[in-house]
Amino acid sequence: MQEYPTTQPLTDRAPLAEQPGVYSESALWYGRRVFVKTLVADDPDSLARFQHEGRVAASLRHPLVASLLALTPTQLIFEFIEGGTLRERLECGPLGEAEATEVAAGVLNAVEYLHSAGVTHHDLKPENVMLLGGQPGWQSVRVIDFGMSHSRSLPLDIHSGTRMGTPHFMAPEQFLGVRGDPRSDLYSVGVLLFDCLAGHPPYEDALGWLAGIRERREALPGLEPLHPLIRSALSRDRSERPLSAARMAADLRAARRALGLPDLPLPRADNLDASA
Ligand SMILES: Nc1ncnc2c1ncn2[C@@H]1O[C@H](COP(=O)(O)OP(=O)(O)O)[C@@H](O)[C@H]1O
Ligand SMILES: [Mg+2]
Repeated sequence: MQEYPTTQPLTDRAPLAEQPGVYSESALWYGRRVFVKTLVADDPDSLARFQHEGRVAASLRHPLVASLLALTPTQLIFEFIEGGTLRERLECGPLGEAEATEVAAGVLNAVEYLHSAGVTHHDLKPENVMLLGGQPGWQSVRVIDFGMSHSRSLPLDIHSGTRMGTPHFMAPEQFLGVRGDPRSDLYSVGVLLFDCLAGHPPYEDALGWLAGIRERREALPGLEPLHPLIRSALSRDRSERPLSAARMAADLRAARRALGLPDLPLPRADNLDASA
């Protein structure tokens, strides 16, 4: 991964989206297809957020996390992941237990690695999980979008005090402004698994639930062996969630076994949490 002083030579450019302040496109870069994010806003806050995203993405290397290939102060060049997002796949209908648990296991494997690297993603949701080749299997998972992330090794938390995120997938403490607790990501993975199985997230009125004025949750989807895991991941109280991504992955493995599903040969995190 290389840092360049200026933007890079891109050809065959095709626009994909323009979010406030950031322009996304697909392009060819040194003969390969890439996904490019370019900062178009010029205010200092947007620049700080963009550079934070780049710094975090540049610090990561894992088979199930989208790879950053190069960066400049205003441009990020990622490998292009062909196949669409998990959200696009869910628009065709919910997943069965086998596929939903495979995708969740892939996401958890990436999350276990992120946490071992001191990074909390803070925006895990089907829009930020891509499926290489469109297949809902663990090997296809690519976690993207470090725009909301918190990193222990970056001294300044540019998002501190904000409530940014997506209400349906945001942990209650994150809504209250708590940053950098890995258990917030486990909550989001719980919602993601729920969404994969049910085709919708657990709370119709997510903001009401986050604010503590509504408690009613939709019935848990999928077969019973998955319920204790989903229930615990969705706990309002962080201490009732799984202790770590590794612990949650082990619980998911056990639930798959109880469902008669095969073990998955997932990569091991470099630096497993000793408490798991
Ligand atoms: N590496 C990639 N390859 C292909 N498409 C991508 C890639 N990264 C992101 N995308 C697409 O662009 C969308 C927005 O990218 P993302 O990084 O999530 O930015 P945002 O901060 O705008 O949500 C994603 O939801 C996905 O559809
Ligand atoms: Mg996104």
